[in-house]
Amino acid sequence: MIRVKFENVTKYYTLLNTGGIKNFILNFFREYKKIKSNRFLALENISFEVKDKDVVGIIGKNGAGKSTTLGLIAGVLKPTSGRVEVNGRIAPLLELGAGFHPDLTGRENVILNGILLGMTKKEILSKLDSIIEFSELGEFIDQPIRIYSSGMLSRLGFSVAVHTNPDILLIDEVLSVGDFKFQEKSKNKIYEFKEKGKTIIFVSHDIGMVEELCDKVILIHEHKLLYQGDVKKGVELYEQL
Ligand SMILES: Nc1ncnc2c1ncn2[C@@H]1O[C@H](COP(=O)(O)OP(=O)(O)OP(=O)(O)O)[C@@H](O)[C@H]1O
Ligand SMILES: [Mg+2]
Repeated sequence: MIRVKFENVTKYYTLLNTGGIKNFILNFFREYKKIKSNRFLALENISFEVKDKDVVGIIGKNGAGKSTTLGLIAGVLKPTSGRVEVNGRIAPLLELGAGFHPDLTGRENVILNGILLGMTKKEILSKLDSIIEFSELGEFIDQPIRIYSSGMLSRLGFSVAVHTNPDILLIDEVLSVGDFKFQEKSKNKIYEFKEKGKTIIFVSHDIGMVEELCDKVILIHEHKLLYQGDVKKGVELYEQL
């Protein structure tokens, strides 16, 4: 069973600076050209498949296109061209606090985030205690999350995501901001998911962990897919870049 499939996916980011909607309409052709020239390439013609139970590491230099790839899988980004297919329930652990509301408390955000991730309210409420316990946020759980440190935010995001019973776990660098103990705990949880046969797509600069955890790698270099397959070979190629 195929969980994720990219077919000739190209992604440009567009920086919109149109001088207002009126200007945009009045000078449509000029503004349209401006938008086209204001495009930033993030991914170029990428194709790959992730099968059920695959544990795949995505590696590559800063700015290569790794987070963009995860954003496309999570559906928070749309491809400029090409096709992205995803089969199954996703738990995305993307950039810090994505999907969180700064003025709500940790507890309220857990409920909101759970719903966004496709849980029913009943399901979330039944897991609320265990999510909060896993996060170890103590009394901070009833404070608005705008006062959280980045590590505290990542604890909250990780705790919700691992309680959603996903088919596909997407992880983008979130472990790096957790303290030693929480990193260990999160790693154990990720290995537990692997043992349960979940599909995992893991973006990290922690090459040691990629080598240990993943069965395959995808190496993205300068927005293109340079290599996919064997972990050792992919890491060797990456280290020579
Ligand atoms: N919102 C955005 N607007 C414009 N360009 C963007 C945006 N987000 C990313 N990019 C560009 O897209 C390219 C890929 O970025 P991406 O965040 O996917 O890289 P990455 O591989 O995750 O890098 P890192 O290892 O630093 O996290 C980069 O050139 C980046 O400048
Ligand atoms: Mg990134």
